[in-house]
Amino acid sequence: PSRFGPRHFLSVDDVTSPEFEHLVDLAKKAKRAIRAGQTIPSLKDTLAGRTVAMMFSKRSTRTRVSTEAAVAHLGGHPMFLGMDDIQLGVNESLLDTSKVISSMVSCVVARVACHSDIVQLSKTSAVPVINALSDTFHPLQAVTDIFTITECFPDPKGIKIAWVGDANNVLYDLAIACGKCGINLSIATPSVYPVPPDTLQLARNAAYLSGSSIETTHEPETAVKGAHIIATDTWVSMGQESEKALRLKQFSGFQVSSNLAKRGGANGDWKFMHCLPRKPEEVTDEVFYSPRSLVFTEAENRLYAAIATLVAFVVKRGKFGG
Ligand code: CP
Ligand code: NVA
Repeated sequence: PSRFGPRHFLSVDDVTSPEFEHLVDLAKKAKRAIRAGQTIPSLKDTLAGRTVAMMFSKRSTRTRVSTEAAVAHLGGHPMFLGMDDIQLGVNESLLDTSKVISSMVSCVVARVACHSDIVQLSKTSAVPVINALSDTFHPLQAVTDIFTITECFPDPKGIKIAWVGDANNVLYDLAIACGKCGINLSIATPSVYPVPPDTLQLARNAAYLSGSSIETTHEPETAVKGAHIIATDTWVSMGQESEKALRLKQFSGFQVSSNLAKRGGANGDWKFMHCLPRKPEEVTDEVFYSPRSLVFTEAENRLYAAIATLVAFVVKRGKFGG
Protein backbone atom coordinates (compact mmCIF):
# COMPACT_ATOMS: atom_id res chain seq x y z
CA PRO A 1 0.00 0.00 0.00
CA SER A 2 1.19 3.52 -0.71
CA ARG A 3 0.02 4.58 2.76
CA PHE A 4 0.77 2.54 5.85
CA GLY A 5 -2.07 4.20 7.76
CA PRO A 6 -2.05 5.66 11.22
CA ARG A 7 1.23 4.58 12.74
CA HIS A 8 4.10 6.00 14.67
CA PHE A 9 7.60 6.14 13.14
CA LEU A 10 10.10 6.26 15.97
CA SER A 11 12.88 4.22 14.41
CA VAL A 12 13.63 2.35 11.19
CA ASP A 13 13.02 -0.76 13.28
CA ASP A 14 9.28 0.10 13.14
CA VAL A 15 9.04 -0.79 9.43
CA THR A 16 9.55 -3.96 7.42
CA SER A 17 12.09 -4.14 4.59
CA PRO A 18 9.40 -3.77 1.87
CA GLU A 19 7.91 -0.82 3.76
CA PHE A 20 11.32 0.82 4.02
CA GLU A 21 11.91 0.29 0.29
CA HIS A 22 8.49 1.77 -0.35
CA LEU A 23 9.44 4.93 1.57
CA VAL A 24 12.58 5.25 -0.54
CA ASP A 25 10.57 4.72 -3.70
CA LEU A 26 8.03 7.38 -2.65
CA ALA A 27 10.87 9.81 -1.94
CA LYS A 28 12.23 9.15 -5.43
CA LYS A 29 8.81 9.85 -6.98
CA ALA A 30 8.42 13.03 -4.94
CA LYS A 31 11.82 14.27 -6.10
CA ARG A 32 11.03 13.59 -9.73
CA ALA A 33 7.67 15.37 -9.50
CA ILE A 34 8.95 18.39 -7.61
CA ARG A 35 12.01 18.78 -9.83
CA ALA A 36 9.76 18.61 -12.91
CA GLY A 37 6.92 20.92 -11.94
CA GLN A 38 6.98 21.81 -8.28
CA THR A 39 3.69 19.98 -7.62
CA ILE A 40 2.72 16.42 -6.87
CA PRO A 41 -0.70 16.08 -8.47
CA SER A 42 -1.66 12.82 -6.75
CA LEU A 43 -0.37 13.90 -3.36
CA LYS A 44 -0.96 17.60 -3.16
CA ASP A 45 -4.18 17.35 -1.15
CA THR A 46 -3.03 14.57 1.18
CA LEU A 47 -2.90 16.94 4.13
CA ALA A 48 -5.43 19.51 2.92
CA GLY A 49 -7.00 21.30 5.85
CA ARG A 50 -4.83 19.45 8.31
CA THR A 51 -2.17 20.55 10.75
CA VAL A 52 1.14 18.90 11.57
CA ALA A 53 2.55 19.97 14.95
CA MET A 54 6.33 20.12 15.15
CA MET A 55 7.50 19.93 18.78
CA PHE A 56 11.24 20.59 18.75
CA SER A 57 13.24 20.68 21.97
CA LYS A 58 16.54 21.17 20.08
CA ARG A 59 17.81 23.26 17.20
CA SER A 60 17.26 22.12 13.61
CA THR A 61 17.83 23.38 10.09
CA ARG A 62 17.21 20.42 7.79
CA THR A 63 14.53 18.59 9.74
CA ARG A 64 12.57 21.74 10.39
CA VAL A 65 12.77 23.16 6.89
CA SER A 66 12.16 19.83 5.13
CA THR A 67 9.16 19.00 7.33
CA GLU A 68 7.56 22.44 6.97
CA ALA A 69 8.13 22.41 3.21
CA ALA A 70 6.85 18.83 2.92
CA VAL A 71 3.62 19.68 4.74
CA ALA A 72 3.18 22.67 2.41
CA HIS A 73 3.70 20.46 -0.66
CA LEU A 74 0.98 18.15 0.68
CA GLY A 75 -1.49 21.00 1.19
CA GLY A 76 -1.35 21.05 5.00
CA HIS A 77 -0.32 23.50 7.69
CA PRO A 78 2.93 22.99 9.62
CA MET A 79 2.90 24.43 13.15
CA PHE A 80 6.38 24.84 14.61
CA LEU A 81 6.43 24.66 18.42
CA GLY A 82 9.90 25.38 19.76
CA MET A 83 10.95 25.07 23.39
CA ASP A 84 10.14 28.70 24.13
CA ASP A 85 6.75 28.65 22.42
CA ILE A 86 4.75 26.22 24.52
CA GLN A 87 4.21 25.41 28.21
CA LEU A 88 6.01 22.04 27.98
CA GLY A 89 8.79 21.53 30.48
CA VAL A 90 8.10 24.72 32.40
CA ASN A 91 4.40 24.79 33.24
CA GLU A 92 3.10 21.52 31.77
CA SER A 93 3.99 17.83 31.64
CA LEU A 94 4.72 15.84 28.50
CA LEU A 95 1.61 13.74 29.11
CA ASP A 96 -0.73 16.72 29.28
CA THR A 97 0.99 18.42 26.34
CA SER A 98 0.67 15.29 24.24
CA LYS A 99 -3.04 14.90 25.02
CA VAL A 100 -3.79 18.53 24.26
CA ILE A 101 -1.76 18.93 21.06
CA SER A 102 -2.77 15.59 19.56
CA SER A 103 -6.45 16.45 20.08
CA MET A 104 -6.13 19.28 17.57
CA VAL A 105 -3.72 18.11 14.86
CA SER A 106 -3.23 15.17 12.49
CA CYS A 107 0.40 14.35 13.24
CA VAL A 108 3.11 15.24 15.74
CA VAL A 109 6.70 15.45 14.50
CA ALA A 110 8.91 15.65 17.58
CA ARG A 111 12.59 16.29 18.28
CA VAL A 112 13.44 15.27 21.83
CA ALA A 113 16.48 14.79 24.02
CA CYS A 114 15.67 11.32 25.39
CA HIS A 115 14.13 8.61 23.30
CA SER A 116 11.92 7.67 26.27
CA ASP A 117 10.19 11.04 25.79
CA ILE A 118 9.12 10.23 22.26
CA VAL A 119 8.02 6.77 23.35
CA GLN A 120 5.85 8.39 26.04
CA LEU A 121 4.56 10.87 23.49
CA SER A 122 3.61 8.05 21.12
CA LYS A 123 1.81 6.16 23.89
CA THR A 124 -0.31 9.15 24.83
CA SER A 125 -0.82 10.80 21.44
CA ALA A 126 -4.11 10.39 19.57
CA VAL A 127 -2.33 10.84 16.23
CA PRO A 128 0.83 9.43 14.59
CA VAL A 129 4.12 10.58 16.09
CA ILE A 130 7.20 10.86 13.86
CA ASN A 131 10.64 11.00 15.41
CA ALA A 132 12.54 14.08 14.22
CA LEU A 133 15.66 12.98 16.22
CA SER A 134 16.11 11.52 19.64
CA ASP A 135 19.31 10.51 21.39
CA THR A 136 19.04 7.03 19.87
CA PHE A 137 17.33 7.27 16.48
CA HIS A 138 16.87 9.49 13.42
CA PRO A 139 14.58 7.63 11.01
CA LEU A 140 13.98 10.56 8.63
CA GLN A 141 17.73 10.79 8.09
CA ALA A 142 18.01 7.05 7.41
CA VAL A 143 15.26 7.14 4.76
CA THR A 144 17.06 10.09 3.18
CA ASP A 145 20.43 8.39 3.28
CA ILE A 146 19.33 5.16 1.67
CA PHE A 147 17.43 7.17 -0.96
CA THR A 148 20.59 9.21 -1.65
CA ILE A 149 22.61 6.01 -1.91
CA THR A 150 20.17 4.56 -4.47
CA GLU A 151 20.76 7.61 -6.66
CA CYS A 152 24.43 6.52 -6.95
CA PHE A 153 23.90 2.78 -6.62
CA PRO A 154 20.48 1.93 -8.09
CA ASP A 155 20.74 -1.58 -6.63
CA PRO A 156 22.63 -1.02 -3.37
CA LYS A 157 22.38 -4.63 -2.17
CA GLY A 158 25.91 -5.85 -1.46
CA ILE A 159 27.71 -2.49 -1.43
CA LYS A 160 29.76 -1.56 1.60
CA ILE A 161 29.37 1.53 3.77
CA ALA A 162 32.06 2.45 6.28
CA TRP A 163 30.98 4.54 9.26
CA VAL A 164 33.96 6.27 10.85
CA GLY A 165 33.04 8.31 13.91
CA ASP A 166 30.69 8.43 16.85
CA ALA A 167 28.25 5.75 17.97
CA ASN A 168 25.10 7.84 17.83
CA ASN A 169 21.48 8.31 16.76
CA VAL A 170 22.23 8.79 13.05
CA LEU A 171 24.38 5.66 12.96
CA TYR A 172 21.86 3.46 14.78
CA ASP A 173 19.00 3.99 12.34
CA LEU A 174 21.40 3.88 9.38
CA ALA A 175 22.66 0.51 10.64
CA ILE A 176 19.14 -0.91 10.88
CA ALA A 177 18.36 0.53 7.43
CA CYS A 178 21.49 -1.07 5.96
CA GLY A 179 20.40 -4.39 7.44
CA LYS A 180 16.93 -4.01 5.93
CA CYS A 181 18.34 -3.12 2.49
CA GLY A 182 21.07 -5.76 2.26
CA ILE A 183 23.89 -3.20 2.52
CA ASN A 184 27.10 -4.22 4.32
CA LEU A 185 28.17 -1.84 7.05
CA SER A 186 31.48 -1.63 8.87
CA ILE A 187 31.41 0.67 11.89
CA ALA A 188 34.58 2.16 13.37
CA THR A 189 34.09 4.02 16.64
CA PRO A 190 36.58 4.81 19.43
CA SER A 191 36.68 1.92 21.91
CA VAL A 192 35.19 4.16 24.61
CA TYR A 193 32.08 4.57 22.43
CA PRO A 194 31.00 1.09 21.34
CA VAL A 195 27.64 0.55 19.65
CA PRO A 196 25.22 -0.64 22.38
CA PRO A 197 24.70 -4.43 22.04
CA ASP A 198 20.90 -4.20 21.83
CA THR A 199 21.07 -1.67 18.98
CA LEU A 200 23.67 -3.75 17.16
CA GLN A 201 21.38 -6.73 17.55
CA LEU A 202 18.49 -4.88 15.90
CA ALA A 203 20.70 -4.09 12.90
CA ARG A 204 22.10 -7.62 12.76
CA ASN A 205 18.65 -9.19 12.96
CA ALA A 206 17.66 -7.17 9.89
CA ALA A 207 20.96 -7.96 8.15
CA TYR A 208 20.52 -11.67 8.81
CA LEU A 209 17.26 -11.65 6.83
CA SER A 210 18.74 -9.68 3.92
CA GLY A 211 22.11 -11.48 3.87
CA SER A 212 24.28 -8.45 4.65
CA SER A 213 26.81 -7.97 7.42
CA ILE A 214 27.15 -5.36 10.16
CA GLU A 215 30.68 -5.35 11.57
CA THR A 216 32.23 -3.23 14.28
CA THR A 217 35.86 -2.24 14.81
CA HIS A 218 37.82 0.50 16.53
CA GLU A 219 40.19 0.99 13.58
CA PRO A 220 39.07 3.42 10.86
CA GLU A 221 41.41 1.79 8.29
CA THR A 222 39.74 -1.59 8.80
CA ALA A 223 36.27 -0.12 8.32
CA VAL A 224 37.07 1.71 5.07
CA LYS A 225 38.63 -1.30 3.32
CA GLY A 226 36.73 -1.79 0.05
CA ALA A 227 34.06 0.76 1.09
CA HIS A 228 31.91 2.37 -1.61
CA ILE A 229 30.74 5.03 0.84
CA ILE A 230 32.38 6.55 3.90
CA ALA A 231 29.93 8.23 6.26
CA THR A 232 30.26 10.14 9.47
CA ASP A 233 28.57 12.67 11.76
CA THR A 234 29.71 15.22 14.30
CA TRP A 235 31.79 13.96 17.23
CA VAL A 236 29.90 16.33 19.53
CA SER A 237 26.15 15.86 19.27
CA MET A 238 23.65 18.36 20.61
CA GLY A 239 23.70 18.13 24.40
CA GLN A 240 27.34 16.96 24.55
CA GLU A 241 28.89 20.43 24.22
CA SER A 242 30.51 20.28 27.68
CA GLU A 243 32.40 17.11 26.66
CA LYS A 244 33.87 18.72 23.54
CA ALA A 245 37.54 18.93 24.61
CA LEU A 246 37.59 15.33 25.86
CA ARG A 247 35.78 14.02 22.81
CA LEU A 248 38.12 15.70 20.34
CA LYS A 249 40.96 13.79 22.02
CA GLN A 250 39.07 10.51 22.07
CA PHE A 251 38.34 10.76 18.33
CA SER A 252 41.94 11.42 17.35
CA GLY A 253 42.68 9.43 14.17
CA PHE A 254 39.00 9.26 13.16
CA GLN A 255 38.90 12.25 10.80
CA VAL A 256 37.68 11.23 7.33
CA SER A 257 40.23 12.24 4.70
CA SER A 258 41.54 11.10 1.32
CA ASN A 259 44.57 9.85 3.15
CA LEU A 260 42.53 7.61 5.43
CA ALA A 261 40.61 6.24 2.43
CA LYS A 262 43.86 5.50 0.63
CA ARG A 263 45.58 3.93 3.64
CA GLY A 264 42.59 1.73 4.37
CA GLY A 265 42.02 0.77 0.73
CA ALA A 266 38.55 2.21 0.07
CA ASN A 267 36.97 1.61 -3.34
CA GLY A 268 38.58 4.00 -5.88
CA ASP A 269 35.28 5.78 -6.51
CA TRP A 270 34.17 6.07 -2.88
CA LYS A 271 31.58 8.67 -1.92
CA PHE A 272 31.26 10.69 1.26
CA MET A 273 28.10 11.20 3.32
CA HIS A 274 27.26 13.31 6.37
CA CYS A 275 23.82 14.18 7.74
CA LEU A 276 24.98 17.74 8.64
CA PRO A 277 25.48 19.99 10.46
CA ARG A 278 29.20 19.39 10.02
CA LYS A 279 31.99 20.53 12.26
CA PRO A 280 35.52 20.73 10.84
CA GLU A 281 37.02 17.97 12.98
CA GLU A 282 35.30 14.89 11.60
CA VAL A 283 36.08 15.42 7.90
CA THR A 284 38.63 17.42 5.96
CA ASP A 285 37.50 20.21 3.62
CA GLU A 286 39.17 18.43 0.70
CA VAL A 287 36.69 15.56 1.12
CA PHE A 288 33.67 17.56 2.30
CA TYR A 289 33.71 19.95 -0.67
CA SER A 290 34.94 17.42 -3.25
CA PRO A 291 32.98 15.79 -6.09
CA ARG A 292 32.91 12.62 -3.93
CA SER A 293 30.78 14.39 -1.38
CA LEU A 294 27.04 13.74 -1.46
CA VAL A 295 26.29 15.97 1.51
CA PHE A 296 24.28 18.71 -0.17
CA THR A 297 22.23 16.27 -2.24
CA GLU A 298 21.66 14.37 0.99
CA ALA A 299 20.40 17.59 2.61
CA GLU A 300 18.04 18.36 -0.29
CA ASN A 301 16.77 14.79 -0.20
CA ARG A 302 15.50 15.37 3.33
CA LEU A 303 12.52 17.14 1.70
CA TYR A 304 11.55 14.12 -0.38
CA ALA A 305 12.02 11.73 2.53
CA ALA A 306 9.78 13.95 4.68
CA ILE A 307 7.09 13.95 2.00
CA ALA A 308 7.31 10.16 1.69
CA THR A 309 7.08 9.69 5.44
CA LEU A 310 4.11 12.01 5.92
CA VAL A 311 2.25 10.38 3.04
CA ALA A 312 2.91 6.88 4.32
CA PHE A 313 2.32 7.35 8.04
CA VAL A 314 -0.31 10.05 8.38
CA VAL A 315 -3.85 8.87 7.91
CA LYS A 316 -5.79 10.20 4.99
CA ARG A 317 -8.57 11.65 7.11
CA GLY A 318 -9.39 11.86 10.78
CA LYS A 319 -7.30 10.39 13.51
CA PHE A 320 -6.47 6.86 14.54
CA GLY A 321 -9.11 4.61 13.07
CA GLY A 322 -10.73 7.63 11.44
N1 CP B 1 20.54 16.26 9.70
C1 CP B 1 19.70 16.94 10.53
O1 CP B 1 18.81 16.37 11.16
O2 CP B 1 19.94 18.28 10.58
P1 CP B 1 19.18 19.34 11.52
O3 CP B 1 19.64 19.09 12.92
O4 CP B 1 19.60 20.66 10.98
O5 CP B 1 17.70 19.10 11.40
N1 NVA C 1 24.20 13.32 16.08
C1 NVA C 1 23.71 14.65 15.86
C2 NVA C 1 22.77 14.64 14.69
C3 NVA C 1 22.22 15.98 14.32
C4 NVA C 1 21.30 15.90 13.16
C5 NVA C 1 23.04 15.17 17.12
O1 NVA C 1 22.35 14.40 17.79
O2 NVA C 1 23.23 16.33 17.44
